[in-house]
Amino acid sequence: MVEPCARVQHVARSIHPNWIWRRARAALETEHNQSVRPMSILKPFGTELSVAVFGAGGGIGGALVDVLQSETSVERIYALSHNELEGLGKKSTGIEFDMLDEASIVKAAAVISKDGPLHLAIVATGFLHNNTVGPEKRMKDLGGDNMEHLFRINTVGPAIIAKHILPLFAKDRQSLFAALSARVGSISDNKLGGWHSYRASKAALNMVIRTLSIEMAYRNPRSICVALHPGTVDTQLSGPFQGNLSFQKVFTPDHSATRLLEVVAGLTPKSTGGFFAWDGQQIPY
Ligand SMILES: NC(=O)c1ccc[n+]([C@@H]2O[C@H](COP(=O)([O-])OP(=O)(O)OC[C@H]3O[C@@H](n4cnc5c(N)ncnc54)[C@H](OP(=O)(O)O)[C@@H]3O)[C@@H](O)[C@H]2O)c1
Repeated sequence: MVEPCARVQHVARSIHPNWIWRRARAALETEHNQSVRPMSILKPFGTELSVAVFGAGGGIGGALVDVLQSETSVERIYALSHNELEGLGKKSTGIEFDMLDEASIVKAAAVISKDGPLHLAIVATGFLHNNTVGPEKRMKDLGGDNMEHLFRINTVGPAIIAKHILPLFAKDRQSLFAALSARVGSISDNKLGGWHSYRASKAALNMVIRTLSIEMAYRNPRSICVALHPGTVDTQLSGPFQGNLSFQKVFTPDHSATRLLEVVAGLTPKSTGGFFAWDGQQIPY
């Protein structure tokens, strides 16, 4: 794949570290992807679907919006983001929100509810590191404020989104609420240690999803509520940690988004409460 020159990369990252860079890269992939992309991955959910993506300014969230844009079964996309988004497609409505501000989520839900019921929602927000803090290598690196911040973004945020978004779901057909978790949040899979706060916040998210799935099933037996692992994806979040992974092991956001939608399309209400990877494999909690 041809990469934009260093100056373009620098300018794109300085305007917005994630969104513009990702769009530049995605544009280079569009022709290839359109030739291989099925007409409608989400067909099992029916037609005229309304879909909400939280974290649409992120690497994977933005790619999900792009893929959904080309889905024939999708009529409306709500692209919810921390910052204002530009260059959205025709079907998309951009809505700003902050995971740390419940009132902004209430406001976003009110905008969505005006257009009728929602059928799918995917929460693709998340936090691992910034310029000052990174994942802990050992227990002496633990800091209460940092741990609390990760829980606020990775666990509490998706739960509060569910609180205000699930009541908007159609009750009479198959629906889906999914949150992007991470394989490192699997307790039984933890053989390496480290990354205490991120692992714990994602393990707690998995429990939130499991608990929501039970309540959702009472309301609509055809509902599906799952946690998803997107693979290792080339985004701002994973950038410093891709280490020695080969190019093939690090997905583009577009590839991960497409695989995740394929996984979602293959789920049934029997799958509700589960944790699934990009390849459809169920991950044990
Ligand atoms: N990339 C990977 O290899 C990988 C692997 C496993 C799991 N995941 C999970 O996949 C999800 C998406 O990750 P990604 O790689 O796409 O990361 P990303 O590009 O950093 O996207 C994360 C998004 O979350 C948003 N966000 C953070 N705090 C927010 C807040 N307070 N309010 C609203 N939005 C907020 C960010 O917006 P701002 O930047 O504007 O704050 C950003 O758009 C995360 O849950 C991550 O844990 C990723």
